[in-house]
Amino acid sequence: MYAILGVTGNTGAVVADTLLTQGQAVRVVVRDAARAEPWRARGAEVAVADLADADALTRAFTGVAGAYVLVPPRPTSADPLADNRAVVDAVAAAVRAAKVDHVVLLSSIGAQHADGTGPIRSLHHAEQALAATGAALTAVRAGYFLENWGGSLGMVGQGVLPTFVAPDRAIPMVATTDIGRVAAAALVEGGHGRSVIELAGPRDYTPDDIAAIVARLAGAPVRAQHAPLDAVVPTFTSFGVGAAFAGLFREMYAGIAAGRVAWEGGAARAVRGTVAADDVLRRLLGR
Ligand SMILES: NC(=O)c1ccc[n+]([C@@H]2O[C@H](COP(=O)([O-])OP(=O)(O)OC[C@H]3O[C@@H](n4cnc5c(N)ncnc54)[C@H](OP(=O)(O)O)[C@@H]3O)[C@@H](O)[C@H]2O)c1
Repeated sequence: MYAILGVTGNTGAVVADTLLTQGQAVRVVVRDAARAEPWRARGAEVAVADLADADALTRAFTGVAGAYVLVPPRPTSADPLADNRAVVDAVAAAVRAAKVDHVVLLSSIGAQHADGTGPIRSLHHAEQALAATGAALTAVRAGYFLENWGGSLGMVGQGVLPTFVAPDRAIPMVATTDIGRVAAAALVEGGHGRSVIELAGPRDYTPDDIAAIVARLAGAPVRAQHAPLDAVVPTFTSFGVGAAFAGLFREMYAGIAAGRVAWEGGAARAVRGTVAADDVLRRLLGR
């Protein structure tokens, strides 16, 4: 039996779908039972727990061989790092209390660093806290989600793809489908001690590459337009997220520019997924 957090989100849904398709026993963990109905209909057990509730999570984790864990974004929080820390500490307490053998954590490129990485700081803390539980830990450090480009497609009609990454800078990007599949495989494989998977798509892309793919799919010229770091906070807050969350993203984009949000290498296992940017962008554009 595998417990899966975040099943109503991008990656958790793929983990659950992959495992159920393989005939594995799955327990989805949701905060609203009604949202788990499609999974119950497919044969999954359902546990109801808020991620900050260690007791409910302990019940959800009892009897499982492995758990897929993530730290959900807190866009409107006044203090996202403190709220993330409360979730991580509750999840770690539950992993310890339920004696879960193996945790697969959705982490991020750059999570080897304690600071200078914005929201990724919480994933550094999560890796440390979960490794200290005594469970085997597989940290799946994912590159930049290809789905993030969905937020930049609004200006394609004007021939522009805004980005906070330098247009000629190639960075690891990955589809959430690849993340879910790799995490599901890691759960079934089981874990020993602490291991890191550094996960990117079939190749790295520059924003210029992404703009060229979008142009081809849209059938019209599109160019990447580099927005300055000082525009991160006003842009993010204009979309309705809180100033603290936006400030963390400014730090992350500065960390990308400085080369700090990068792979650690060393003993980490480098894995490439199979889903190309073209496939994700085609879906995002509705083509
Ligand atoms: N975007 C990137 O480029 C990138 C790169 C690397 C790593 N990451 C990391 O990826 C993670 C996000 O993964 P994702 O995109 O799969 O997640 P997501 O789609 O944002 O989904 C979040 C999930 O968490 C659940 N959730 C939120 N708050 C909860 C609570 N209090 N109790 C129980 N469940 C709760 C949500 O359920 P509801 O439906 O109930 O809200 C949802 O299922 C973050 O840690 C992020 O840092 C992102």
